[in-house]
Amino acid sequence: MSTMSEQVLRLADDGVDFSDVDCLPEEIRELVSAPGKFADPRVLAYTTSNSIIARILHQNPASDAMLRIVYPDGNGVPLTEGLDRFLSRSLSGQALRDRLDFCAHWLAEHFVHDNVSVVDLGGGSGSYAFEALVRAGRIPTGFRWDVLDLDLEALAVAQTRANESHLGHAVNIRKGNFMKDVGPPADYAVLIGVLCGMDKETATTVLMRAKEHLKSGGEMLAATLLMRAFREDPRTFRILCNVGGWQLRPKELSDVHKIFDDAGWQIISTMSERPGGDGQYAIIHARC
Ligand SMILES: C[S@@+](CC[C@H](N)C(=O)[O-])C[C@H]1O[C@@H](n2cnc3c(N)ncnc32)[C@H](O)[C@@H]1O
Repeated sequence: MSTMSEQVLRLADDGVDFSDVDCLPEEIRELVSAPGKFADPRVLAYTTSNSIIARILHQNPASDAMLRIVYPDGNGVPLTEGLDRFLSRSLSGQALRDRLDFCAHWLAEHFVHDNVSVVDLGGGSGSYAFEALVRAGRIPTGFRWDVLDLDLEALAVAQTRANESHLGHAVNIRKGNFMKDVGPPADYAVLIGVLCGMDKETATTVLMRAKEHLKSGGEMLAATLLMRAFREDPRTFRILCNVGGWQLRPKELSDVHKIFDDAGWQIISTMSERPGGDGQYAIIHARC
């Protein structure tokens, strides 16, 4: 099993009350409630047999496929009962939907303009591209959005979306590693849900490399998970951490700011998926 992050291990220090979570049998509730009970094989067996989200994350903790289940179109998966419904309806599931909604609005307003290009680093199945274009309501003249990702399955979903959408011709789907495969420099970059599993050093390296995808003075919108998520929704994260191999590394806001500073970005504004600014994600608008 992969090494658990320091943040995940800290989450295991305390017990968490699952007594009213009736989608789990009593034995599993007891196992996930107790401190230090991550990676119990009985929990893993139960969750991966009863939850699509757990199965996906067990195979690939950084998967875009989990997001497609939780995002509002539901990807054809009716979450009407059971563990997937519990996870998807949690505060953290809501935070993912709010993140998509907030960022798509913001991107439509700030990055979708005439004669500009956007590169979406780790853009997965293109959820942000399509949601931002839908909100913009049109494709500006000369506008182009590149979705760059390593995951062929996610890219195939993005391609199907592009083929089936009247906005799809502005979206270019590209297989590549954003650490190596740098295309023509873009005006804007998007980096959402990519730094969440990285330690500070790796996140800084990625942010330094991200600058190479942009023209001088180019701007980025990035979003990454904050420690507040673990603090306010420990039940969801305890279940996810039990899935094994879960390596989330939520950060304090001060750490997020330091990572951007260390990588040489100038932060223009710090936002959150919640209107009050106290959400589970730091959403950073920065210039290189
Ligand atoms: C959690 S998903 C986020 C997808 C999308 N940005 C979203 O928020 O809906 C993270 C994505 O980053 C991609 N990824 C991770 N490292 C990458 C790399 N070095 N180059 C390209 N894609 C990468 C993964 O394949 C995955 O699709």
